[in-house]
Amino acid sequence: MEKAADRRRFLKFLAASPLLGRGTAQWGAALAEATPNDNRAPERTLIASPNDALNVLDFEPVARQTLPPAHYGYLATGVDDDATLQANRTGFSKFQIRARRLVDVSRIDTSMELFGANWKTPIVLAPVGSQKAFHADGEMASARAAGARGHLLILSTGSTTSVENVTSAWGGPIWYQLYPTDTWRITQALVRRAERAGCPVLVLTVDLPAGRNTETAARFAKKDTRQCASCHQPGWPGFLRRKPMFDGLDLSGVSLSSPGLTWEFVRRLKDTTKMKLVLKGIETREDAALSVKYGVDGIIVSNHGGRAQEGGRATIECLPEVVDAVQGKMPVLVDGGVRRGTDIFKALALGAKAVGIGRPYIWGLAAFGQPGVDKVLDLLTRELTLMMRHAGVTSVGQVNRSFIIDGRRQ
Ligand SMILES: Cc1cc2nc3c(=O)[nH]c(=O)nc-3n(C[C@H](O)[C@H](O)[C@H](O)COP(=O)(O)O)c2cc1C
Repeated sequence: MEKAADRRRFLKFLAASPLLGRGTAQWGAALAEATPNDNRAPERTLIASPNDALNVLDFEPVARQTLPPAHYGYLATGVDDDATLQANRTGFSKFQIRARRLVDVSRIDTSMELFGANWKTPIVLAPVGSQKAFHADGEMASARAAGARGHLLILSTGSTTSVENVTSAWGGPIWYQLYPTDTWRITQALVRRAERAGCPVLVLTVDLPAGRNTETAARFAKKDTRQCASCHQPGWPGFLRRKPMFDGLDLSGVSLSSPGLTWEFVRRLKDTTKMKLVLKGIETREDAALSVKYGVDGIIVSNHGGRAQEGGRATIECLPEVVDAVQGKMPVLVDGGVRRGTDIFKALALGAKAVGIGRPYIWGLAAFGQPGVDKVLDLLTRELTLMMRHAGVTSVGQVNRSFIIDGRRQ
């Protein structure tokens, strides 16, 4: 009885949580057949080891089979009808690549520079919370894979491993993602801890101020027969208490919801820290211009992987207006729906300095732990290198708009 009550309380918490969803729709047969992440290659079979994967999508069905339904649902979900999640994918097909020929492409350099630091690749591991929900090694596995290959990693506020341990697993400085919380004292403590750990850049996520409707997550949670509350205590303090970045902090009354967030908060944060400040979740030229005005150092064009608001707009379609609005005054990155080297090439051509991936590396993690993440990163790098060769470019800095046709204007 008590366990059932715990579970009910936990589902109630899910219903109110901006991070975990509040859907009520019935489980649908179609959902059991295919999820928005499934590219439905008819001949796809479950891979038994990372080396069997032909592309990153091969990891998704293994992750789905391996994870408990509620955890898989948390990973797969978009919001409402998952239309924005799907748009992030289909958006890439609206742009085509203009390939040049007869260029010596025997040597390819995928490295890029951001805020004075060099990275071996423009493929960035976007912040994904609660990675131990996907594999016992969690963020440590992702960090080891990323560090060994020189990928920038952004650690989530909702991480299940501390910034100090992830920094040491990566082998050098990582960026820290901040959910503002509704309590300045907590925000400040997170910022100071990231500074002490050596993070050079703070990424403020601004696309999830208060609540969201993650119905796919809720449907999968209903299929899960385990007692969720034996791991997660209901309510924000219970959720945060399991996150090492909140160790030792008084969490009474604290929430990750921040409906009152405005540009004044951005100003206050700028005044509080010497870390560079990047806004994650900007989609429009107006907000890009305000980012310049408020002295922000960089932008990640993002809609949280289609898990925040159901705007229906692909991030790749938002990218050009943001790039144009900042007029080269700061680097612009993009994430959402990146699954192929050609997607990365298109994003670079439209002006992104680097490209974030979320679900793909988590599919690899869930399916096989660190070797899965290793392989996901290798596959994307290989595909990007191949596309660069085909297009006749030898470094990412050479990829510009002349390589793109905007099919929406045809
Ligand atoms: C399971 C999951 C958890 C996430 N957690 C966070 C988070 O804690 N903070 C954040 O800013 N973004 C978070 N995101 C969004 C990602 O950083 C990124 O924007 C998104 O996953 C990119 O889209 P993609 O999954 O299609 O690659 C999360 C995404 C997923 C799938």
